[in-house]
Amino acid sequence: MLKMCGIVGYIGYRDSQPILLEGLKKLEYRGYDSAGVAVFTEHGLEIRKTVGRLSNLEARLREQPLRGTVGIGHTRWATHGKPSVANSHPHTDHTFKVSVVHNGIIENYLELKEELMLKGHRFQSETDTEVISHLIAAEYDGDIVRAVRKAVRKMRGAFAIAVLTEYEPDRLVAVRLASPLIIGVGEGEMFVASDIPAILEYTRDVYILNDGEMAAITRDGVELMTIEGNPIAKEKFHVDWDLMTAEKAGFEHFMLKEIHEQPRAYRDTMRGRIAADGRDVVFPDLGLTPERLREIRRVHIVACGTALHAGMVGKHVIERLTRIPTETDYASEYRYRSPIITPDTLVIVVSQSGETADTLAALREAKRQGARVLAITNVIGSSVAREADDVIITQAGPEIAVASTKAYTTQLIAFYLLGLYWAKALGTLPDEEIARTLAAMQALPEQAERILAQGDDIKALAESIARHQSLFFIGRGLDFAVALEGSLKLKEISYIHSEAYAAGELKHGTLALIEEGVPVIALMTQEELYEKTLSNVKEAKARGARVIGIVSEGLDAEAAKSVDRMFVVPRTLPLLAPALSVVPLQLIAYYAAVTLGHDVDKPRNLAKSVTVE
Ligand code: F6R
Repeated sequence: MLKMCGIVGYIGYRDSQPILLEGLKKLEYRGYDSAGVAVFTEHGLEIRKTVGRLSNLEARLREQPLRGTVGIGHTRWATHGKPSVANSHPHTDHTFKVSVVHNGIIENYLELKEELMLKGHRFQSETDTEVISHLIAAEYDGDIVRAVRKAVRKMRGAFAIAVLTEYEPDRLVAVRLASPLIIGVGEGEMFVASDIPAILEYTRDVYILNDGEMAAITRDGVELMTIEGNPIAKEKFHVDWDLMTAEKAGFEHFMLKEIHEQPRAYRDTMRGRIAADGRDVVFPDLGLTPERLREIRRVHIVACGTALHAGMVGKHVIERLTRIPTETDYASEYRYRSPIITPDTLVIVVSQSGETADTLAALREAKRQGARVLAITNVIGSSVAREADDVIITQAGPEIAVASTKAYTTQLIAFYLLGLYWAKALGTLPDEEIARTLAAMQALPEQAERILAQGDDIKALAESIARHQSLFFIGRGLDFAVALEGSLKLKEISYIHSEAYAAGELKHGTLALIEEGVPVIALMTQEELYEKTLSNVKEAKARGARVIGIVSEGLDAEAAKSVDRMFVVPRTLPLLAPALSVVPLQLIAYYAAVTLGHDVDKPRNLAKSVTVE
């Protein structure tokens, strides 16, 4: 059973149940098909588990609360097999002494299970996690840390676990092997979590565990060690975001809040990276110096989903500004197509979470083959950030909605900055052009605000398409890259089928699907391609399409003659247009989903952080 889940743990002086529940709420984006908690109460180890959203667990705990100052909790997202109470976490061994929550996969669990069954262990679920609790119980000889260590050494796979045992209820044990895990440090209380927002209400000081590290946690301290048992010293990491940024701040949904945060996120991503005179990009701590950049002969951009769509814009940006051949690839395909990686290849991985399994695997493969890897990610201390040679952190702040918005646009900003910095190093763009582009970039936040102020117009557009079965997004060049993102956004939250097409490609087959009333959203922001796209719009209209134009200011007068409805985005340099034209598309997806009554922040079948391949 594969899982991608949220883990939380508490040991301290307060009642653990509300802390575990609050923590799980912050992690619900990691999975939300079942949830559970284990607490050490006056009766010993007690567990409550429910299927479905966390609110079900909350209701259950209201009826039958668990009182105790140490506990672990879990929110789950299954990729195989049905979510059920038996398959939910925490799991225990058959003597009900050792409870475990787990994120990841134990590859050899069947082997281990068979061995344990021969020794008389009886199992309740089909999960690999249950095997962990049995294995630990089997190894227990008076020291839970030693038992966990021995058990972990027998396990193969990628996982993070937290363990609470009735034998030693004053300790929690946490282990990380390739799935994220952090330890929060308070006064007389300690926390475990798979992500920082889960514990931010209680502490800002955290230890970020690396692969192969574990922690023995008591109320007063934490002992950090490798899974071989060697002690390690580690610096605490101080989190300086405020919790409000991780909450809805008055918006109806996280997605809407995050769309509205984009002007701020653009500014934050540019802050400190543009020289005071506005003429150059500066990357104070980027190891990728101008000298190193001059050695690069080719670029591979590798990512998944929305992050890959940002990479597709990045390809245009890098090729136009530096003339260095750049390819993009799905991370899930990259490793298996034996990519041509040479020492002068720069591999750029793009990942909001920095934990996406496919992206991480591609990063490792690229490094193994000798490439230098640059990560563009939103999460400091994430696996991708730690394993890449160089990192550009997008300053989007925590992104909670499953549908990515501000992460995408800040990834675009990162590509623009990188492209200009690189062009300067190579001398491929006149200084005046660099300064002009930077000035235009600094106008983007205010221009995005102008788009956001027209939310009602966009809502009306969204309502006009929401009842359709299927629609198309078309565009050329950068507009096509943005069309792909607009289509994905709409699909994932409104569940309306849509396809993005390079506008010129439509007539090579897909035009057959255009019939009376089918909506076509046509992006027209690129002056030099605009006439061409307009003729594709006319082809679609001649077959009955109802065309909505997303058009740059200045091109609108002409477009108005051919489209049925139009939204005009402020004028900017063509290269920068994606950072504006995507905003109405995000809002169209959002309002279409709201119109249809869907759960915008937690769309069906999806989870925020995809830590399985
Ligand atoms: C769509 C979306 C996904 C992610 C993809 C990669 O809105 O969010 O397509 O972009 O799963 O995730 P990260 O960027 O965390 O690697």
